[in-house]
Amino acid sequence: ETGTVTVDPGFMNTASCESTITYIDGNQGVLLYRGYPIDQLAEHSSFLEVAYLLTHGELPQHQQLAGWIERIERHTHLHDNFKALIGAFPTNAHPMAVLSSAVSALPGYYPESVDPFDPATVELATVLLLAKAPTIAAYAHRRALGQNMIGPERGLGYIADFLRMSFQPTAQHYDVDPVMAKALDVLLLLHADHEQNCSTSTVRIVGSAHANLYASVSAGINALSGPLHGGANEAVLRMLTEIQADGGDATAFMNKVKNKEAGVRLMGFGHRVYKNYDPRAAIVKQQADRVLRALGKRDEMLDIALRLEEIALHDDYFIERKLYPNVDFYTGLIYKAMGFPTRMFTPLFAVGRMPGWIAQWREMMLDPATKIGRPRQIYTGPTTRDYTPVHER
Ligand code: SDX
Repeated sequence: ETGTVTVDPGFMNTASCESTITYIDGNQGVLLYRGYPIDQLAEHSSFLEVAYLLTHGELPQHQQLAGWIERIERHTHLHDNFKALIGAFPTNAHPMAVLSSAVSALPGYYPESVDPFDPATVELATVLLLAKAPTIAAYAHRRALGQNMIGPERGLGYIADFLRMSFQPTAQHYDVDPVMAKALDVLLLLHADHEQNCSTSTVRIVGSAHANLYASVSAGINALSGPLHGGANEAVLRMLTEIQADGGDATAFMNKVKNKEAGVRLMGFGHRVYKNYDPRAAIVKQQADRVLRALGKRDEMLDIALRLEEIALHDDYFIERKLYPNVDFYTGLIYKAMGFPTRMFTPLFAVGRMPGWIAQWREMMLDPATKIGRPRQIYTGPTTRDYTPVHER
């Protein structure tokens, strides 16, 4: 409330960088984007407005916001060859592999947006990446279904057109449900940045070698695909499906977790930083209830998820380890209710995280003090020894 943030000196020894973008207090469950609390942004802002805030540092004025949205919506289309590029993937290719490959290919099609040191070029790359990420994700989704890819249309709005590109049956009209569009807007906003998480640190360290924005973000997409990170939302749905198939006994499952049976983990729980309820998870949980009710879908898996949370919040095993729901615990239920297959959950996380990756890369690249990332190690291998010829070993 006083506007000051105190940092434990010991913390500075482990910090990888200084940043002005996102602040997390893991013990209090606080998340601020450029100083604005996440719950206020989720209630009053939009994904594209938050993308402007993260990448430019301030909330846009009316004209700035209108111009920003217009520029992004003008660039959602992809070069025709992109359909061939994405179409070359087998339908069983994971959409995250398609997304990271496609983002890596963008510099070839938009070379005028590659120079990492020209502010105008960086701004163009920012707009192009935000604009094209949903189109690539929708293409990857339809490719995986063996459906033909449907390009963007102007006038519907960024989020609604993403849903249309994903779900419109070929050669038929498709009305986007406004409840779904609003819920997806909030979910993407909630994922927009999260300071130095695994994938963002990857984007920074790749960019510190002066790699361009697309190459850096493509590396971040691959980091995010890991089940301990962004892949967790996909793993949560697999976990809930298994519990449901075993008769829906949440207590029996939690006993397996506590007994650490075959490495069974409560996916969607726990966090490297939050040792309290992830503030995003609370908002997602409200959205899950709203979306499922609006779509008239009472999902048994939501009931199982709520039972798992109820057990975890009252069981010493989880309390002692400070294991609370994280952002991934409820998101998959909403994506599933929207009609996305489980494999699209992490690409949706990636589309949401795009503004954060871009903002963090820009902050680093535009800082003249930035040096190439070079983590050190604690060597625990053999001490110096002499080579022995193979016949003497
Ligand atoms: C994201 O960094 C970010 O900001 C990430 C993210 C973002 O927005 O970018 O917030 C997104 O990645 C969220 C996290 C999504 N991942 C999951 O939901 C996967 C399940 N969670 C875990 O694997 C785990 O909680 C981590 C990896 C997220 C965090 O692990 P930690 O803090 O390194 O904890 P740990 O692995 O050292 O475990 C500490 C103890 C252990 O028990 P003991 O050995 O002490 O007996 O807690 C236990 C662990 O076994 N534990 C869990 C658990 N997570 C930790 N036990 C059961 N289920 C879990 N999920």
